[in-house]
Amino acid sequence: MNAAVTRLDPRWLRFTVGRPWTAAAAASKVQLSTLPPEPVIPSKQPLRVELIGGKRYSWCTCGWSRKQPFCDGSHKSRAQGLSPLRFVPQEDATVWLCGCKHTNNPPYCDGTHKQDFIVSAPLHEPTES
Ligand code: FES
Repeated sequence: MNAAVTRLDPRWLRFTVGRPWTAAAAASKVQLSTLPPEPVIPSKQPLRVELIGGKRYSWCTCGWSRKQPFCDGSHKSRAQGLSPLRFVPQEDATVWLCGCKHTNNPPYCDGTHKQDFIVSAPLHEPTES
């Protein structure tokens, strides 16, 4: 025991050292992260959608929405830190929107769903709650 500890009141020392819960132990159990949560995968295929030019859309980025590929607000309770991608197409168009939520060209499919990490990943099944 070092000198700083031996100068402390033995009652305090017994109380502090004897406790199983310490700040260091608590820190090892708490994981802090500034990274946003990973999206779940609601579909491993793109979704064909007819868009109306000038209309505003919100593409789901978290994968929890039950209105795929669009947002239903589920990210607010299921994936805090993720938010929908809002976009307005310039003209009417039929497009393939990403269903796996891992495209590098959101909201459009870029073929990422064919990669092994998506093919082998679990598919998210929507629940009632
Ligand atoms: S469905 Fe996501 S990249 Fe194709």
